[in-house]
Amino acid sequence: MKISIIGSGYVGLVTGACFAELGHQVLCMDDNPQKIAFLNTGKVPIYEPGLEPLIKANAEEGRLLFSTNIQEAINYSDLIFICVGTPPKENGETDLSAIEVVGKRIGETIKSYKLIVEKSTVPVETAKWLEKTIRTSLRGTLEFDLASNPEFLREGNAIHDFMHPDRIVLGVSSERAGSTLVKLYEPLNAPLLMTDIESAELIKHASNAFLAMKISFINAVAEVCEKTGADVMKVAKGVGLDARIGTAFLNAGIGYGGACFPKDLDAFIHLASELDIDFKLLKSVKEINDRQRTLSLTKLKKLLSSLSQKQIGIWGLSFKPHTDDLRGAVALSTIQALLREGASVRAYDPVAMENAKSQIPSIYYAKDPYDAATGCDAVILATEWPIFKQLNFLTVKKSMRRPILFDGRNFLNPLRMIDLGFEYHGVGRTPLARMNAAL
Ligand code: UDX
Repeated sequence: MKISIIGSGYVGLVTGACFAELGHQVLCMDDNPQKIAFLNTGKVPIYEPGLEPLIKANAEEGRLLFSTNIQEAINYSDLIFICVGTPPKENGETDLSAIEVVGKRIGETIKSYKLIVEKSTVPVETAKWLEKTIRTSLRGTLEFDLASNPEFLREGNAIHDFMHPDRIVLGVSSERAGSTLVKLYEPLNAPLLMTDIESAELIKHASNAFLAMKISFINAVAEVCEKTGADVMKVAKGVGLDARIGTAFLNAGIGYGGACFPKDLDAFIHLASELDIDFKLLKSVKEINDRQRTLSLTKLKKLLSSLSQKQIGIWGLSFKPHTDDLRGAVALSTIQALLREGASVRAYDPVAMENAKSQIPSIYYAKDPYDAATGCDAVILATEWPIFKQLNFLTVKKSMRRPILFDGRNFLNPLRMIDLGFEYHGVGRTPLARMNAAL
């Protein structure tokens, strides 16, 4: 099949490259000329494991094209995926202006039937509004279909998630649209859920809100663990082994970040309030997360009495491992708060340091995790990159002014760290849990 992808950001690029890999002819469009020029030289503007070779191979074989011209993209195929950004407004509402522009251009350009698929995360009923937008600029009475096919790609695992999805959700309103999309995804041999368009749109927001809720739930439980000597890792395991609950997304820590959860939760809360629904549960999820994100700071202040003149090491900057994405990263807001308190910061991240330098130029970017810890009064592990498990912790400890180790992701073995002489602090596993950790 021929496929047009409008918007070549994270979602658009992964989707386009994977469809090309499945043998389709794909044109990825973006209005950023630098990005397209970069892609045309075989390079990828984002860090996503496996994406660069995939793009390179498919571009070389002529299955993957790039363009800055939206009309060319609209005319290229009868199947158009909208993957443009849907950022949040100040009040949490989703900013649909980029989708609106695409809708208008589609209306002005099309001369024959098109199936237009929403891939970007949008609030429920966006397709209804988009249909009106397209019709307003449409000349004549051309036929077109809209569909919703939300993405569930995790950064750092996006290609695997695309090729081996838990489910593919297809929100359609005509048989023609449904059969085209079923055929498109057939090679993946994945469970397909066909719904009306509104349900498909809502599935995306509800899924992300539910996952965020699991994280905030376990973080709230972690607080109880800290006050009682229980170990949240064991509690999470015991709870998660119930097949109805599941062990995934029950890792307590310094909160969720990223480009999706915070924005999608805000958008869902806003959408509910527009419908006169006070979604208190989601408000609490957000509130718990906001508090959790300041946990390392609260704890360090307690331990060091003041952060002024203190030197703090940060291990990990990206919002999670295997990505260079800093959007919503807890490490960044923590660093900003530390600087406000008068501390100095030494940071290390395996891939996100170049991105971080442009946002926070005033800290020391270390050459490795040891360098980041040297002379520090405390180190905060903010992102669970595998490298932080493989260190010589005795060397780390000896290089620090005071060996406080705040493990914001419960990534390290507490007992081992305590035995090495660290003042180890995890989330929901206090030193009281020392005995328990040994069992
Ligand atoms: C998420 C969804 O998983 C994906 O389906 C959707 O399409 C886009 O949003 P992503 O933003 O890549 O994907 O990150 P994810 O792996 O879901 O993690 C989000 C945040 O939650 C990270 O900051 C992570 O550190 C945190 N997290 C995750 C926890 O704190 N605890 C957990 O148990 C799991």
